[in-house]
Amino acid sequence: MAKFYITTPIYYPNARLHIGHAYTTVAADALARYHRLLGDEVFFLTGTDEHGQKIGRTAQEAGLSPQQYVDQIVATIRELWGTLAISYDDFIRTSEDRHRTVVQEVFRQLVASGDVYKGTYEGWYCTPDESFWPEGRLVDGKCPVCGRAVERVQEESYFLKLAPYAERLKRHILEHPGFIQPESRRNEMLAFIDQGLDDLSISRTSFDWGVPLPGDEKHVAYVWIDALTNYITAAGFGSDAERFARLWPADVHLVGKEIVRFHAIIWPIILLALKLPLPKTVFGHGWLLLDDAKIGKSTGNVIDPTTLVERYGLDAVRYYLLREVAFGSDGSYSEPSLVLRTNVDLANDLGNLLSRTTAMLERFSAGKVPVPVGTSNLRPVAEAAIYECEQALASLSLSDALVALFRLVKAANKSIEEEAPWTLHRNQDPRLAAVLYDLAESLRITAVALRPFLIDAPAKIYAQLGAGDIGATSWQDVAWGGLKPGATIQRGAPLFPRIEAEEPTASAPRPAVAATTSAKATAEKAGTIELADFKRLELKVARVVSAEPVEGSRKLLKLTLDLGAEQRTVVSGIAGHYDGPALVGKDVILVANLAPATIFGIESGGMILAARDRDQLRLLTVDGSLQPGSSVS
Ligand code: MSP
Repeated sequence: MAKFYITTPIYYPNARLHIGHAYTTVAADALARYHRLLGDEVFFLTGTDEHGQKIGRTAQEAGLSPQQYVDQIVATIRELWGTLAISYDDFIRTSEDRHRTVVQEVFRQLVASGDVYKGTYEGWYCTPDESFWPEGRLVDGKCPVCGRAVERVQEESYFLKLAPYAERLKRHILEHPGFIQPESRRNEMLAFIDQGLDDLSISRTSFDWGVPLPGDEKHVAYVWIDALTNYITAAGFGSDAERFARLWPADVHLVGKEIVRFHAIIWPIILLALKLPLPKTVFGHGWLLLDDAKIGKSTGNVIDPTTLVERYGLDAVRYYLLREVAFGSDGSYSEPSLVLRTNVDLANDLGNLLSRTTAMLERFSAGKVPVPVGTSNLRPVAEAAIYECEQALASLSLSDALVALFRLVKAANKSIEEEAPWTLHRNQDPRLAAVLYDLAESLRITAVALRPFLIDAPAKIYAQLGAGDIGATSWQDVAWGGLKPGATIQRGAPLFPRIEAEEPTASAPRPAVAATTSAKATAEKAGTIELADFKRLELKVARVVSAEPVEGSRKLLKLTLDLGAEQRTVVSGIAGHYDGPALVGKDVILVANLAPATIFGIESGGMILAARDRDQLRLLTVDGSLQPGSSVS
């Protein structure tokens, strides 16, 4: 069994976390879930970076002790990870005893090996980033990374010598192309080493919210040394040698691009000095931007992931975070793009595929998965999609992995249009079974492969297909042919109801959903209706498959309509205005939940909408092309 040890950065609990932090953590969670499905022994670590000047000051401003302050923020962070279904195996807090002991042990070993000496630090400090900067590195007198003001610092300090390790580290980076990813960050780090590495101040004396150094307790460990050490504390360094030997080195440190320097230069040098192996990969992802600025506590443009989950659902938020931006690059966040992604990929492509497939299995296959006979058109597409998805996950390209999977979803939807199962059914074509099996099996495979990314949808897809307990599946179940013929379909609610366009934005308050009685009464008096009344109508886009005259009537046409997941027969009084054959292929609007009526002996399942101007009558249609079955609101 392979092991997979993945970490997120440990977050500063100086304020509630936002969508930017959720981004890193959801990505790590997807990778952890993927490796669990592969059968690996996974250790997924996250936690909080609780010491340092920034937290000390924030607590003071709040009139609390640092410990009291961080305790309350940490509770909100754990709650947030619960909301986002983050499957961490350990949550480390740097204020814990288990960690303090390790930081002190690391310091002892660094002093003993001669890598640390005592001196005086004179220079600049960026408190928000907790970074030291020499005069020469400042840009316009500000922090070169975040652009914020720096403070002058002059104090006694312990220093770690970095330069003696520069050549070894550089060689390691060059010999291990996967060590720093993506490539752009690797090049940045090589350039950084080439500028020369100054000795690093690793202790502070001007405040005491930190780990006291053994033997010189007026010093507390510099918060980054304290923080980076978390990765070995949680793996058992100094407490469980057997476990540490099994877990270390970490396979992936997932970090934001601005902290790659700490993880790809300082941390490896500490490890080299401790004679420990280096992590296999440090992956620096990009930032989520709002109107071109990094979403961040300091910019005040934070977006609360909990609000988004309440509004759009867990899977929609996770899907958006993992799919929208190529992992590694910066990308823009916006609520309209979240709505669009959900509606297009999840509601239209995936959700419709499920409802159309299960509806057709019910109508054309007695609600059972058929025995496939003959060639499968979708099998090679599914196998290619899974292969590409695996390749993408191996290189941590999470959005590419989802793009590959949705290629299968799109191909399955396309095959419905091309194969027209209702025609195969009408013609009693034996290919019908293979076509329906293809669709159901493609959905089943998609459900398994989506398990790392989405939480609720995969299980719902499995249940609707009668495929059993998705919790019992592993990644091997993405192989074609897992769906058992004879399984009973259990049609359910739409997987992802469309989010309507008038949905408010994250900053606007949500209007009350239910109308009160008095509001209803007022509306009736004014001769208007409530939105809720209008919403009782189920209006759908329907494509005309055929239109024939009704025997014995000059006014009526019998229409066969494609609603995506089903076909309907509707009798309509439009014969005087439209020629039957000219209507075929046209998209019309159907009142789909009208009680059925029998007209001239034909059961009519709804009414299509038309506008009338004196004796002229024109059908309503949609502007552009939408999938049959799309809802109208
Ligand atoms: N405490 C340090 C990390 C120590 S790890 C040994 C820290 N904490 S942080 O809370 O400021 O940031 C944690 C992570 O959140 C970083 O990887 C950072 O890049 C990420 N993000 C914060 N805002 C972000 C965006 N707007 N977009 C993407 N990621 C962002 O740094």
